[in-house]
Amino acid sequence: MNKAVIGLQWGDEGKGKIVDYLSEEFDLVVRYQGGNNAGHTVIVDNITYKLNLIPSGVIRGKVCYLGQGVVLDPKHFTKEYDQITKKINNPKVYLSSNISLILDYHKQLDKINESILNSEKKIGTTSKGIGPAYQDKVGRKSIKLYDLKSKKIIEEKISSIKKFYDPILERFNEDKINIEKTVQDLIGFYKLVKELIIDNSLIKKEFRGKKILFEGAQGALLDLDHGSYPFVTSSNTVSSNIVIGSALQVDYETVGIFKAYTTRVGNGPFPSELHNDIGNYIAEKGVEIGTVTKRKRRCGWLDLVSLKYSCQINRVNELCMTKADVLNNLSEIKVCKSYNSKEYEDVNFSESSILESLSLKDTDFEIFSSWGEIKDLSKFDRLPDNLKKYISYIEDYLNIPIKIISLGPERSQTIIR
Ligand code: GDP
Ligand code: IMO
Ligand code: MG
Repeated sequence: MNKAVIGLQWGDEGKGKIVDYLSEEFDLVVRYQGGNNAGHTVIVDNITYKLNLIPSGVIRGKVCYLGQGVVLDPKHFTKEYDQITKKINNPKVYLSSNISLILDYHKQLDKINESILNSEKKIGTTSKGIGPAYQDKVGRKSIKLYDLKSKKIIEEKISSIKKFYDPILERFNEDKINIEKTVQDLIGFYKLVKELIIDNSLIKKEFRGKKILFEGAQGALLDLDHGSYPFVTSSNTVSSNIVIGSALQVDYETVGIFKAYTTRVGNGPFPSELHNDIGNYIAEKGVEIGTVTKRKRRCGWLDLVSLKYSCQINRVNELCMTKADVLNNLSEIKVCKSYNSKEYEDVNFSESSILESLSLKDTDFEIFSSWGEIKDLSKFDRLPDNLKKYISYIEDYLNIPIKIISLGPERSQTIIR
């Protein structure tokens, strides 16, 4: 069966590591949304791979495909592809002809959008131009990969885009759009990636019969419709976007992935956030620093209320828990089981002001004892009893089995049940 690995929190759950791990059994690994706002770190035999656009299956030499739901920055893709080529022999990466591009003005507009908001209203985006690029897609102004075949089409499109955006760019002292340079850059880019582009009409045929692993980017709580709007990303991160974003009409099972605690990078509500030494300890021990922006990730206890919501909106079949090793030496470990006695059914996670009114003092906790260092990673049965209790409490709460347990960043530090 095809599978999807979907983040259930605010991103950075370890999707890259687990997609690399699971990809051994798949032929094709597919991204279906997001762009280079994603940062996926994979460590194999002490070699670190940092991927933003290219699916983690590339490390095992799997065929990788970026579907039409992805937004692609040509400058970034060129760099990332070049870097991966230095580490992996002949990477097999394909791009849907329908992909919408992120160009310089999207990054400028991302900056402007943030600059006009009061500090408590800023989203804290990755500044990669993601929001403005999706805005153009919805507004029917995107330059698509298929446009790059024709200089005339690029010129025409850029000219009208320039009319639309130059007044804004000028008003905020940003460089105006340079038609000639943009056209030249895009033609140069097309020459580089021409062979990687698959026309959307051929995708079904090209990938027929392949066993597919879908790699989510971001997490369910950052979903444009289901997350805490406006503190979300600009794409649908949930599994139901897979068919639209990949143009592959296939069935799949969903592996929902979560950290044994919670992190968030950027602004927005976070009820179980820890503003204390424990939060700092988790950040340090878990190396919670954003791959893309190098910002410190905010840390807090595992929030089962939001996790249950994420499982529901993604129709999760099985779970993967990562990073419990980070909590090894804490004397007690807490999980949030309700907000002021409210179950998840009673909370509207997509209206940010509701979650914003909640903080640590409003969360009801279940408390677990320390499980100490984990010495034997060879089998689930050999894990410390207190960690097993933690796992079984989460499974009972969510009513979904945790089938994959990751206890370190290396590919080998993974247990399958
Ligand atoms: P992604 O965006 O979901 O792919 O996650 P990131 O790669 O941004 O962040 C996860 C970080 O945790 C990476 O640095 C991984 O190397 C690391 N990591 C993944 N799984 C584990 C784990 O089980 N334990 C520890 N200690 N680190 C992990
Ligand atoms: P991966 O795939 C964590 C967050 C940003 C910001 C919000 C909107 O590594 O899990 P954007 O640039 O998308 O417009 O920013 O979304 N964000 C992420 N946070 N992990 C990610 O990806 C993220 N991608 C975007 O920090 O709060
Ligand atoms: Mg990440």
